[in-house]
Amino acid sequence: MTVASSAAEAFRNAYGADPAGLWAAPGRVNLIGEHTDYNDGFVLPFALPQHVVAAAAPAGTPGWTVCSTLAEETVTFTTTESARVEGWAGYVAGIVWALREAGFTVPPARIAVASDVPLGSGLSSSAALESAVLTALVDLGGLDLPVDQRPALAQRAENVYVGAPTGIMDQSASIRCVAGKALFLDCRSLAVEQIPFDLAAAGLAILIVNSNAPHQHVDGEYGARRKSCEEAARILGVPALRDVPPADLDAALGKLDDDVMRRRVRHIVTENQRVLDTVELLRTGRIREIGPLMTASHASMRDDFEITVDQVDVAVETALAAGAYGARMTGGGFGGCVLALVDADRAAETTAAIEQAYAERGFTAPTAWSATPGPGAARLP
Ligand code: GLA
Repeated sequence: MTVASSAAEAFRNAYGADPAGLWAAPGRVNLIGEHTDYNDGFVLPFALPQHVVAAAAPAGTPGWTVCSTLAEETVTFTTTESARVEGWAGYVAGIVWALREAGFTVPPARIAVASDVPLGSGLSSSAALESAVLTALVDLGGLDLPVDQRPALAQRAENVYVGAPTGIMDQSASIRCVAGKALFLDCRSLAVEQIPFDLAAAGLAILIVNSNAPHQHVDGEYGARRKSCEEAARILGVPALRDVPPADLDAALGKLDDDVMRRRVRHIVTENQRVLDTVELLRTGRIREIGPLMTASHASMRDDFEITVDQVDVAVETALAAGAYGARMTGGGFGGCVLALVDADRAAETTAAIEQAYAERGFTAPTAWSATPGPGAARLP
């Protein structure tokens, strides 16, 4: 059964009627540009074929009811309750809250969600849930919220309602990505450029390797990285680390006493430049040549930003040894997935090499698949 038909079936089972429509929003991987979003920098994600589907219909009574094929409970909330909705339904309640905060009249609705975005793997399953529900409610209510303003609203739901201090990349990817393209996003101006990324035409594949490593300390470590970057920007007297050009990096590092902070800054400044260099290569179709930038990004995340774990480092090293053009962890870190740029006909061999390396070390087996850039959030026909 497809994700869309699971969502529709869950809706019928829960509410005894057909949904008014189905809205899908994808998970994402980030090709390059990690932890740069909350530093007002650059990112280059693309949408996965895996997505969340929200089956939804207006409700005759006030409030919102949500159920999920991945959870036992059906959750109902209204605007009169002061208690925050916890758990997965908090992402839905957060979207309703953020829409209302922005002054919209949100239609009461019944929603059933289904998803094939792997959870807790750094592939933005929660941003996909937020984006699917947001797109559904905007359509059902006929709300005048332009697509380019939706990611910031969904990010607010996540930052303020759910309480996770993330940047704007994941919601932007889920909402603004286009099939066949990578999304070059300036996280300060929110300007986007759709960058051609036709892997198949070049005989290439992006292999996604889910390390299946237990996600540990994610929230605390993520927040600590963010604080350190903001503190460094304050000391350097710039609005954000985006404002430190690579040519000024040495001078900037000279003004910082703390070695850890210096390394955090070096990651952000060099990573922003790697995004720009990657975009430049992709604009002229030189996909293979982005490999070394991916690998340099990984080294920077491992050594300077210190957000990788053994499982992802081993996947990167093994992919490279098996002939990948480049490989790097994608997402927030401390587990999650690795991307490897490989010749399409070597994807299976590369996967086998990584599986063997994991077995030798006694790691939980990885899961791997090849991905091409899919479409962003939309109502399904
Ligand atoms: C998580 C956050 C994003 C971004 C990445 C790291 O996915 O949600 O905003 O900061 O980590 O690049």
